[in-house]
Amino acid sequence: MKRRLRKILSDNIPCEDLPNIHNSYDVVGDIAVIRLTKASSKYNQAIAGAILEVHKSIKTVLAQTGPVHGAFRLRRLEQVAGENKTTTIHKESGCLFNVDIEKCYFSPRLFHERMRIAKLVKTGEVVVNMFAGVGCFSIIIATCSHAKKVYSIDVNPAAVRHMQENVRINRVYGKVFPMFGDAKEIIEKKLRRVAGRVLMPLPEKALEYFPYALLALKEAGGWIHYYDFEHARKKENPIEKVKLKATKKLESLNAKFEIPLGRVVRKTGPNWHQIALDINVRPT
Ligand SMILES: C[S@@+](CC[C@H](N)C(=O)[O-])C[C@H]1O[C@@H](n2cnc3c(N)ncnc32)[C@H](O)[C@@H]1O
Repeated sequence: MKRRLRKILSDNIPCEDLPNIHNSYDVVGDIAVIRLTKASSKYNQAIAGAILEVHKSIKTVLAQTGPVHGAFRLRRLEQVAGENKTTTIHKESGCLFNVDIEKCYFSPRLFHERMRIAKLVKTGEVVVNMFAGVGCFSIIIATCSHAKKVYSIDVNPAAVRHMQENVRINRVYGKVFPMFGDAKEIIEKKLRRVAGRVLMPLPEKALEYFPYALLALKEAGGWIHYYDFEHARKKENPIEKVKLKATKKLESLNAKFEIPLGRVVRKTGPNWHQIALDINVRPT
């Protein structure tokens, strides 16, 4: 498909301008999200036309006009072609996700990581997802593992509304519990010492929220899945840099732990990486 897209673009865009075109784009349900630069924005209709021709199921092409921003991690979007809409249903790992990509965070690029975590969950486990968005990790865990309960917190009311709808359409009532509010407050008030596994899929805040992830874990300990962004020059190892940062913080909180796994989830920019750490916390 990518080859066809490049061929269509090379028929419509002068070859000296082709290197300015981002050759990756996200597909969320029947919406494609492209990125435009100053140099490529004049070709927005040509790019959208090529995508609509290659992916017959796509109804809308939107352009992301700035970085993901704010507490809710949203992206600014502009309609380029097709239907004027930002809500769609995305299919991933056999689950359906109803999402408004303008009002809620959603990234199809995390699909491998979501399934990796679901496969680690043991029968009867209680999971706390501190930053759940529209419920992707939580619902994939509920459908692909034998978890007992997944408490699924988000501070964005629109994300929680979509999460509730996704619990309904994926029939995971009684397994996934959407909770609206700040993860700090919800854990302090309602989820102390309940979980065998805690997910922290918000790199911007995960370090600050470590004390609450520890508080949500049972006294017997368990697993924390920690996410961070890290910059690393050629000779540096981004995983080791994140391990060092997380280790310092956890030691300052007197936790006993090991970090048996660190991995690069994806590249997020030149020399920038999203890193996942699987942290095993021993009994307190
Ligand atoms: C990067 S998104 C992760 C979404 C989700 N895990 C996924 O895979 O799609 C982070 C989410 O954390 C939420 N958030 C930000 N601050 C929060 C807080 N203090 N407590 C709970 N949720 C928060 C945002 O609204 C956003 O939906």
